[in-house]
Amino acid sequence: MPLYLVPIIITALLNLYFMPLIAPSLLAANFLKLQDECNMLNESQADWFHLDVMDGRFVPNISYGPMIIEFIRKTTHKVCDVHLMILEPEKFAEAFKNAGADNLSVHIEACPNLHRNIQQIKSLGMKAGVAINPHTPVNDLSDILHDIDLVCMMSVNPGYGGQKFIPHTLEKTKQLRKMIDERGLKVQIEIDGGVTVENAPSIIASGADVLVAGNTVFKATDPKGTISQLKRL
Ligand code: DX5
Ligand code: ZN
Repeated sequence: MPLYLVPIIITALLNLYFMPLIAPSLLAANFLKLQDECNMLNESQADWFHLDVMDGRFVPNISYGPMIIEFIRKTTHKVCDVHLMILEPEKFAEAFKNAGADNLSVHIEACPNLHRNIQQIKSLGMKAGVAINPHTPVNDLSDILHDIDLVCMMSVNPGYGGQKFIPHTLEKTKQLRKMIDERGLKVQIEIDGGVTVENAPSIIASGADVLVAGNTVFKATDPKGTISQLKRL
């Protein structure tokens, strides 16, 4: 290999390593054109499909369940990252596994026996995530962090897409990054809600690994270009 290529390759690998993962939230997709929306994500630089499940009890809204996810799963080989905003998620974990979920996140606020939920998700062969609401301190994750693969840090109150990013999330992300790094863990930090091309650089700088983006992607005039933009920030 010519020597001049070495720094170029090293820079490319470093970029790849430090690039955030992009997880567009299908909540903002046009469900009458779901196949087209999935095709667009498949052709894009999106890494994960973020799938928001709401029960009208834990959050004041209802979205979709395993049946829709099963259809979406058939359209893609990308990671299906399912975010459960539901009470009693243990009743449905297996249904989401069967629907094709790769990652399953449950809310700490909805799970009095969180450790059991995490064990169940992992025993079903999925990656386990814990989602936390904006008011929930990062310290509440302290005794579960070593058991999980992902923290879904809510940067809006869960229930709706298109809300404004809560700036305090940046502080929480820094704290969580420190906690993960100090313990030498590989837990990924996903930021969910109100992510835009404008605020993404500060979110990444605070230590996030994965950016969820609903409206920013699906309401853009050029969704694929917007995903690339988020990826390259
Ligand atoms: C909110 C959901 C989010 C939402 C993000 O309850 O968990 O995933 O779809 O949508 P935007 O990016 O539009 O805030
Ligand atoms: Zn979500």
